[in-house]
Amino acid sequence: SDPDALTYDLRGTRVLITAGGTREPLDPVRYLGNRSSGKQGFALARAASHRGATVTLIAGATAELAVPSGVELIPVVTAAQMSEEIAKRSDEADVVIMAAAVADFRPVSVADSKIKKGSAGPAPIELTTNPDILRSLVAARTAGEVAASTVIVGFAAETGDATGGVLDHGREKLARKGCDLLVVNAVGDGKAFGTDDNTGWLLAATGTETALPLGSKTLMASRILDAVTDLLPVDRC
Ligand code: CTP
Ligand code: CA
Repeated sequence: SDPDALTYDLRGTRVLITAGGTREPLDPVRYLGNRSSGKQGFALARAASHRGATVTLIAGATAELAVPSGVELIPVVTAAQMSEEIAKRSDEADVVIMAAAVADFRPVSVADSKIKKGSAGPAPIELTTNPDILRSLVAARTAGEVAASTVIVGFAAETGDATGGVLDHGREKLARKGCDLLVVNAVGDGKAFGTDDNTGWLLAATGTETALPLGSKTLMASRILDAVTDLLPVDRC
C-alpha cells in the first residue's frame, strides 16, 4: 500500500468548517453570546489540514485560539454573516462541518448608540429567529444547488431533559436536520464547553451509532474525519 495515501487521505478534498460562537449585537457595546470556545472546530481544521485537505475555517468568537497553519480563516460575528459565508462557499466544498454554536435568536433591533439604564427599569429584549444554516445547506443539496456528493456534518450539544436523554435528542436532531453525520456531545456540568476533552456519540443518517469515548478534541476530530472519509466518493481527486 501507499503510505502517503494513508497519511494524506484528505488530499484534494475541500473542507469547510464553522467554529466558535456567534454574537448577536444589542448595541455598540453589548451582545447575546454563548460559551463555545471553538476548540473542537479548530481541532477539526488542524486535523483535516494535516491529512492534506484544503481547509477554510469560518470562525465566530473563540477563546483566542491560534489559527492552524495552512488554514484559511474567515472571521465572522453574527449568525447572519456565518450563513452568508457558508452560502458563498458551500458549492465548492466536498465536506461541510458545522461545529459552530450558532445563536438561535437575535435581537430584532440593534441600537445605534449605547442603551442607557434610564429610570424606568429594564425594557424587554425582543428576539427574532436566525436562519438555520445547517438545514438551509441540506435543503440546497436536496435542490441540487450543492453537489449531492457533499458530505454534511452537524453538531449537537445536549444536556438531556424531562423529554429524553442526550442520545434521544441527538437522534431526533439528526432526522430533523437531514445531515449525513451528527456529532452529539453531552454538555453541562463543565462538559464540552471550553474544555480540552469531549465525549458523546457519532450518529450517521444510515443508522450507524458509534460511541465517542472521552478523549481529547484532537482525537475526536480524527474520529469524525475517519467517518467523513468513509462517506467521500473514492474518485474525488
Ligand atoms: N445550526 C445552524 N444554524 C442555526 C442553529 C444551529 O446551522 N441557526 C447548526 C449548528 O452549527 C449545529 C447544528 O445546527 O451543527 C445543531 O445545532 P443545535 O443548536 O443543537 O440545533 P437546533 O436546531 O438549534 O436545536 P436546539 O433547539 O436544540 O437548539
Ligand atoms: Ca440551537
